[in-house]
Amino acid sequence: MSVELLLGQMADGEFHSGEALGELLGVSRTAVWKHLQKLEGLGLQLESVKGKGYRIPGGVELLDADVITQGLRPAASAFIKQMDVLQTVDSTNSRAMQKVVEGSGHGYLCLAEYQTAGRGRRGRQWVSPFGQSLYLSVVVEFKEGAAALEGLSLAVGVALVRALEEVGATEIGLKWPNDVLWRGKKLAGVLLEMTGDPSGVCQVVVGLGVNMSLSEGVVQSIDQPWVDVATIVPGVSRNQFAVSLFNHLLPVLSGFSVVGFSQYKDEWESHHVHAGASVELAFGVNESVAGVALGVTETGALRLDVSGEERVYSGGEVSLRSV
Ligand code: BTN
Repeated sequence: MSVELLLGQMADGEFHSGEALGELLGVSRTAVWKHLQKLEGLGLQLESVKGKGYRIPGGVELLDADVITQGLRPAASAFIKQMDVLQTVDSTNSRAMQKVVEGSGHGYLCLAEYQTAGRGRRGRQWVSPFGQSLYLSVVVEFKEGAAALEGLSLAVGVALVRALEEVGATEIGLKWPNDVLWRGKKLAGVLLEMTGDPSGVCQVVVGLGVNMSLSEGVVQSIDQPWVDVATIVPGVSRNQFAVSLFNHLLPVLSGFSVVGFSQYKDEWESHHVHAGASVELAFGVNESVAGVALGVTETGALRLDVSGEERVYSGGEVSLRSV
């Protein structure tokens, strides 16, 4: 509760005196610091200046459900049955999966300011500091089974590229299957999780994490080269980017079972960072194959030229090969 009160006051980035914050929280001036440390625990940067008080340098733009909803175009808002904007959650994907279990999955969306257990692909952690990224999940139901999902995660990557380009980003690349990169650094990731009947009605949770404006304090814990939207296009609002993202993503999700990936193939390939490059595709612990990346198939599988022979792969982790 004290965190919400403090953020309501300090999100503006201005200095607030210890006395004023103490009054707000109903604690003594000296006890204020203990409460402020909770903000630091969420990954927020705090500055304290004698005689002025405390501030969050640059402030935080909190997510606003009304602003997001009002910015949506009809093709996007028609998809939504329920949207939650949460302050803290373990993982938006877990929350969305819970909705599926409760029977109200399709059309559910959630965004969070902070994830305590954000998940990445391949069991990795997704570092999720407060208010500095977008963490969101959407549930979509497919009646045609898992086969209808082929290429969905790549199409989601295309939606992300469209949204980033709409806010002015250039040089956005896609690494198979769906990492979004800028100049080789990770900008956004996609995690799809499926449940239900693989040959009938199944539900997919589409989880997206987009680095928006990461503060110094949290970046040491990210274990790969990364970049944020603020570096590429300064001044992009998180709420406006969420609007842009949903306007591109939701129509892709709602129409995917009809159009499939072939509709997005050319656009995906036009952003393929490894096109024509010598790569290695790793599977499991010690297995890998080396080849030249040719592109993707109509269903989103990776095409590799392996010793002069074209082969197609639907799983694995791609990396550039040093030759
Ligand atoms: C990746 O490893 O590239 C995928 C990262 C996906 C992270 C997002 S953040 C919102 C959603 N909730 C999660 O726990 N993970 C996804």
